[in-house]
Amino acid sequence: MNGQDFQIKLNTPHRVRFTRGAFELSNTLLGDLLENNGQANTKVIAFIDQGVAAALPHLEAEISAYLEAMEGFVSCGTVVQEGGEVCKRDMTTLQKAWDIIEEKGIDRHSYILCIGGGAYLDVIGMAAATAHRGIRLVRLPTTTLSQDDSGVGVKNGINAYGKKNFLGTFAIPYAVVNDFNFLHQQPVEERRAGLIEAVKVALVRDGDFFCWIEQNAGLLAELDRDVLEQAVERSAILHAEHITYGGDPFETGNNRPLDYGHWSAHKIEQLTDFAVSHAEAVAIGVAIDTVYAWKSGLLDREDAHRILHVITTLQLPLWHPCLEMVYSEGTCPGDTCPTAHSDVGRRVLYRGLEEFREHLGGELTLLLLKGIGVGENVHEMDESRLDESISLLKAWT
Ligand SMILES: NC(=O)c1ccc[n+]([C@@H]2O[C@H](COP(=O)([O-])OP(=O)(O)OC[C@H]3O[C@@H](n4cnc5c(N)ncnc54)[C@H](O)[C@@H]3O)[C@@H](O)[C@H]2O)c1
Ligand SMILES: [Zn+2]
Repeated sequence: MNGQDFQIKLNTPHRVRFTRGAFELSNTLLGDLLENNGQANTKVIAFIDQGVAAALPHLEAEISAYLEAMEGFVSCGTVVQEGGEVCKRDMTTLQKAWDIIEEKGIDRHSYILCIGGGAYLDVIGMAAATAHRGIRLVRLPTTTLSQDDSGVGVKNGINAYGKKNFLGTFAIPYAVVNDFNFLHQQPVEERRAGLIEAVKVALVRDGDFFCWIEQNAGLLAELDRDVLEQAVERSAILHAEHITYGGDPFETGNNRPLDYGHWSAHKIEQLTDFAVSHAEAVAIGVAIDTVYAWKSGLLDREDAHRILHVITTLQLPLWHPCLEMVYSEGTCPGDTCPTAHSDVGRRVLYRGLEEFREHLGGELTLLLLKGIGVGENVHEMDESRLDESISLLKAWT
């Protein structure tokens, strides 16, 4: 048998930038970031989330003018589509994006700009990664959550078979531009809720950052502009550092600290038919795994209380009634219900552990906290201890 291992050296930069007013004509950041390699026919098109377009009525015209003014590029104009979780539910938005890419002749030397929340970035990221096997994508996240977490990530996708992110790819965006001006347009509750991913990354990677969040939790709850921007920037950098230097950007191993609290969060989103947002579900998921670690003797009671206190100060939930609903045969949202059953939500939730394992592959591996900023991987969870943890959170609420 002949054969050889060839080493593919990617050496791909992960360009992350912070700015204000990215589409003001005086702001040269985007123009400087994009290269046309001497080809003056390099196309640029902007896909915009309708939510942010509605919040900023001049945005689409501003982006159009910016693209027209970019020297050495051909503007293919702007497209506005519905964002939010609904755009990940089926192929409609994705298909429309592919149609536009084909119709406008967007090629692999072109740039797709995507301006929107995490859900829309996921869909357009998938369209860009798959059309012509990969078109350069510049993400401009517009929500707290997408700026402090998903925007700097290297994943995209849509939901299918009732499961979160079942279809999608890993693809490093050409660049990520966090424009802080977008942060202050989002409805107040959603703006605040997106901070949970900053809390999460602090808990698993940076205890000092958690202490900073704790000290500033009141100002963060009031959405003080400076403090919000500082939290978002620190969180984005911690996420980007983990992806870039953590040794496993495409998640081939089992160690997934950035998914702290997410096994139950994804199932809670599904159980509530996405009425509970990703951010709210992550708050509950982080609370469950925190109390579970405390009840397992891993985490101090005091530290567990500090974490729950930060979550509630940010006005996020620790519990949801879906965890007590009774689901009879055929009524579990997104659940295939292989046999007739009559389960309370907690039992359905626990099936999320296997779905989570299947999505990530390999052995079930979950990070639990043994201190603030310090995690430990475990490979199973005890259902009666989970019951106890969830009941405690219900009583706390
Ligand atoms: N790919 C990843 O690595 C990754 C990581 C974390 C989360 N996610 C995904 O991100 C999604 C959640 O993203 P999200 O929290 O940003 O919410 P979202 O994308 O669902 O957006 C929420 C709503 O806000 C609107 N909106 C967006 N920007 C706005 C603005 N500036 N002003 C006013 N309205 C605005 C949207 O139109 C939408 O209606 C989930 O689908 C989650 O699975 C992906
Ligand atoms: Zn998340």
